[in-house]
Formats: sequence, structure tokens, C-alpha cells
Amino acid sequence: MVPPKVVLAYSGGLDTSVAIPWLREEKGLDVVAVTVDVGQPVDLERVRAKAIASGAVAAHVADARAEFADEFVAPALRANVLYEGVYPVSTALARPLIGRHLVRVARAEGAVAVAHGCTGKGNDQVRFDLSTTGLAPDLKVIAPAREWSMHRDDEIAYAQAHGIPVEATRTSPYSTDENLWGRSVECGILEDPAIEPPEEVYGWTRSPAAAPDAPAYAKIGFEAGTPVSLDDRPAPFHEIIAALNRLGGLHGVGRIDHLESRVVGIKSREVYECPAASILIDAHRALEALVLPRDVLDFKRSVEQRYAGLVYDGLWFSPLREALDAFVGATQTRVDGEVSVKLFKGAARVVGRRSPYSLYQSGLATYSTGDQFRREMAEGFIYVWGLPARTWAAVGGPAASRTTESPPAKLA
Ligand code: ARG
Repeated sequence: MVPPKVVLAYSGGLDTSVAIPWLREEKGLDVVAVTVDVGQPVDLERVRAKAIASGAVAAHVADARAEFADEFVAPALRANVLYEGVYPVSTALARPLIGRHLVRVARAEGAVAVAHGCTGKGNDQVRFDLSTTGLAPDLKVIAPAREWSMHRDDEIAYAQAHGIPVEATRTSPYSTDENLWGRSVECGILEDPAIEPPEEVYGWTRSPAAAPDAPAYAKIGFEAGTPVSLDDRPAPFHEIIAALNRLGGLHGVGRIDHLESRVVGIKSREVYECPAASILIDAHRALEALVLPRDVLDFKRSVEQRYAGLVYDGLWFSPLREALDAFVGATQTRVDGEVSVKLFKGAARVVGRRSPYSLYQSGLATYSTGDQFRREMAEGFIYVWGLPARTWAAVGGPAASRTTESPPAKLA
């Protein structure tokens, strides 16, 4: 009898490689490995071959870079998503996409379960579990690393006993995750939040001190809040992201040191490198500042915060995210134009912006000749606008301290 199948999110690392024979031996399942290309710099053919060498009955590789950029990163950018004000949720955004691929393959293969390599302490387990069950509530989710009690040394021994190739060179104390929207680093010395991250944790960005002495400029073209060109050349969004990661990285842009509040209640210290995300979020905000009225910007900020929390918490496939997307989408119809960003020694600064929908009217803003603002109207406006403040001040302090002889407040 052929065993039932499980579809495993496979990275090629030690945990997910060990999971292949473990799922066979402990759960009696044949493993179909799925590796999704979200822009991580790994050799996917080698990963596929390693899945088979580790005992998978089949191994799929999907190039999802455009899908990731267009369907996950772009909505997050339109919402200027930064969890706790600093983290562009790069890892968190890729999980629902990978979950969707797992479910697709599970359906095609007639699998009974999906599996992932996350431990029981992190956010990613929450995101994988919620996004797969959110799409396919009938599929079981198995997280081998949540069940087994192996430490790294045990895993290496288990791998060797099962003929899985273990790369001896992989002695890095850090745990990393990479995709188009950013690179995350945790563990090792970073677990002491009082200590500055050593230079060796960075993989995408030069130290600002070693960045070029001449600044670089990037001109980003937006349509409806989504980047469509770089330096006047139209390009697919995922290519714009990749190009800005390279350019920003060269100039030391996008390093983030975050004392982060995990979904599972743990505080953790995370270092991120997100050059493109840093540049694009600043540029997008700058364009919004030009074309959106103050009340829309103000209300949108509260939506953005909620959006960030929801993505971080693994609730991508949820009615709330769809409703927030509808709101954000309605704010983006005029977010068209170009933004110039200057990259220099670790900083990315917006230095210019233009839009056909600009609300900036030089006739109103100027202090020079050509001023069209009707200054004489200001005094009347301030009289009405300030009436509550004047009434409050005139009535005075706590009632107990007032005497009946107090003169009547002069209100007008
Ligand atoms: N703390 C970050 C997040 O929750 C990064 C997680 C990195 N994940 C990993 N498997 N290394 O999004």
C-alpha cells in the first residue's frame, strides 16, 4: 500500500532535511518537498536535489518572485507596513505565499497534510499554521521541530544516520531568513540586546563607514501606489526591489536593530537588512504626503498600524486584511508620480517628488510674489477655530477655587 502524502515547505537546511525521514518514520507519510523562490539567494536546483537525496518522493521548486512582489509586498508597501514602527515584515509576508503554494501542491498530489520546519517558539509556526488552515481547513498541519526534542547535535547525528548530506562548513551561530523584502538575523551574540551587532551578521549591506564617498540617487516611479519604474526605466516590481537591494546595500542603507515583541509573547532581538523596503516605504510616504489630504493621511496611519500587526500575527488570509486592503486601495488612486531618493553612508533621504495630482500649489505656499492666499481671511478663521480654547481659558480653573465675585468671563 502506498503511504499517504505530506507536503513539506523545504528550505534545504538541516531542520527541514531531517524532517523528511522523520515524517516517514514517525508519521508514516511520504514527503513531497516544495521550495518557493521568493528571492532568497540559494541554488534552487541544489535544494531540489538535496530534498530527493534526503528521501523525498518528489521535490517541486516554484519561482514565485513576481507573485510575492505583486500580491504580498505591493499591498504591504501601499500600507507602509512597519511592525512596531521599524520592521517591514519581510519574513512574515512570505509565509502566507509559501502556505498557498503548499496547499496548491497538496491538492494536486492528494496529500493529507502539510508540514513546515518551524519550532514552537517563533512567529513563523503561527503564520504557516494559520495560512494553510485558513485556505484548506481540512488539511492537517505537522511541525516536526515542534514535536521532536532534538537539539542541533542530535539533528546532525540523525541526518548522518539517514544518509543526509550535512554541510560541515555551516557553523554560523546565526539563524537567517531571506527574501526580496529583507534578510533577518537572530541568535548567537545578538541574543544579548545590550551588545551592538558585530559587522559579521550583515550579509546584504556594507557598513555605512565603508560605503562610497559619493552619494547615489534612485528615482522611483509610482502608479496607484505601486512602483513601476526605476530611473525612468519601466520594470517589474520584483526587479525594482532587487535592484534597490543591491544599490541600497552598497550604500549601507536598511540596517534595523529591533527589540521585537513576538506573537507568542517572547521579546526577541532581531537584526534586519531591508534596503529596498526602507527606500520604497520612505519614497511611497513622500508621494502620499504630496497627493493626499491631511485627514486621509492621518486616518490611514492607524490602518497601517493595524495592517502591520495583522501581517505579523499571521492573519494574511483574513476578512480584516481584505477590508483594510479595500480602504488602502481607495486611498491610492492618485498616488502616481516620481520620487528621488539620495543614498549616502547608510541613509536614504527623499530629496524630490512630483505628481500630476500634487496638492502642493505654489500660489498658495509661496512667500514671494504671486501669493494667492487671502491673508485677510486668517483672522476670522482663527477667531472661530480658537473659540473653544478661549472659552475654556476664560472660565478658569477648578470650580472650588472660584468665588462668587468672579467677574463674568469675556468670551467674545
Ligand atoms: N522575527 C522575524 C519575524 O517574525 C524573523 C523571523 C525569522 N524566521 C526564521 N525562520 N529565521 O518575522
